[in-house]
Amino acid sequence: MNNDFINIEKLISVFSTDFEKTLISFLPKALFFSDKLDKAMYYVVKVGGKRLRPLILSEISSILGIKKENSDRVAAGIEFIHCYSLVHDDLPAMDDDDLRRGHPTCHIKFDEATAILVGDAFQSLAFEIISHEKTHENSEVRCNLINELAKSSGAEGMVGGQMLDLEAEKKTLTLEKIFQLQRLKTGELFRFSCIAPCILAEKYEELQVFENFSSKLGLAFQIKDDLLDVEGNILEVGKKTGKDHKQGKETLVSLLGIENAKKKSKDLIEESIKIIEPFGEKAKNLIDLANFIISRNK
Ligand code: IPE
Ligand code: IPE
Ligand code: MG
Ligand code: MG
Ligand code: MG
Repeated sequence: MNNDFINIEKLISVFSTDFEKTLISFLPKALFFSDKLDKAMYYVVKVGGKRLRPLILSEISSILGIKKENSDRVAAGIEFIHCYSLVHDDLPAMDDDDLRRGHPTCHIKFDEATAILVGDAFQSLAFEIISHEKTHENSEVRCNLINELAKSSGAEGMVGGQMLDLEAEKKTLTLEKIFQLQRLKTGELFRFSCIAPCILAEKYEELQVFENFSSKLGLAFQIKDDLLDVEGNILEVGKKTGKDHKQGKETLVSLLGIENAKKKSKDLIEESIKIIEPFGEKAKNLIDLANFIISRNK
């Protein structure tokens, strides 16, 4: 294992421990809301995950000189949207999974109705946090963030991609269609993580650069997820493997084969790194993160 990999694992672990506290601090604390919903939201946050979207957002924020107190709020927003997408993705009506992040999925631990409502509540919470004036003093900036997050997560983004993904079961797709599906279901939340710091910094030239970076990164990330579904170890990945094949889901791996899919993800990561190299030493962690995306075992 090389040093960069060890360093990035350390960075992820330190960031996750700290960021979990941030997420918990944003959970609703009202006295009169359902104890069950409260417990289920807390459960989903506590079982963890790699926190890659907030970490990428934080790294780009530090490159652009954004204060942590501001970027943390947007990072929490994107992670809550991601958590909502996973809770719904695991439901019987979708992928019907009982294991997530090494623990029973939300609907198994609680029940289906609760899991649906947890997802809904996380989605609203994300927008509540970002729209608060503590995120940025300029309301136009806050509005831009909300607009982009809504696009990235809705029908033209993650939700649209999830629909295409369900429709892809038991049907042959072209390479182009699979790229489109993956760009929407996975790439769009990465896009938001990469452009949000530029919106906070009101730096619109950099926004183009990081958007370009995210399009390669997001695609490589989903190819690796599909590879882990074929080659991964359930204990490391923390979710069941072999599901895509079982569900007849066409992926880039089923279409191109394992070796070509690996080559494609490697090429994409190399291209993504070239885009951010001009930021020099400041981009070191981000470059290591990009490499981690295809070398990870979970
Ligand atoms: C899993 O995302 C869902 C996909 C988009 C493929 P992650 O692999 O980032 O999940 P966690 O947050 O680490 O559990
Ligand atoms: C899920 O994709 C993507 C979203 C939740 C938006 P997958 O269905 O491949 O993710 P895993 O493998 O269950 O984590
Ligand atoms: Mg799915
Ligand atoms: Mg799934
Ligand atoms: Mg998967």
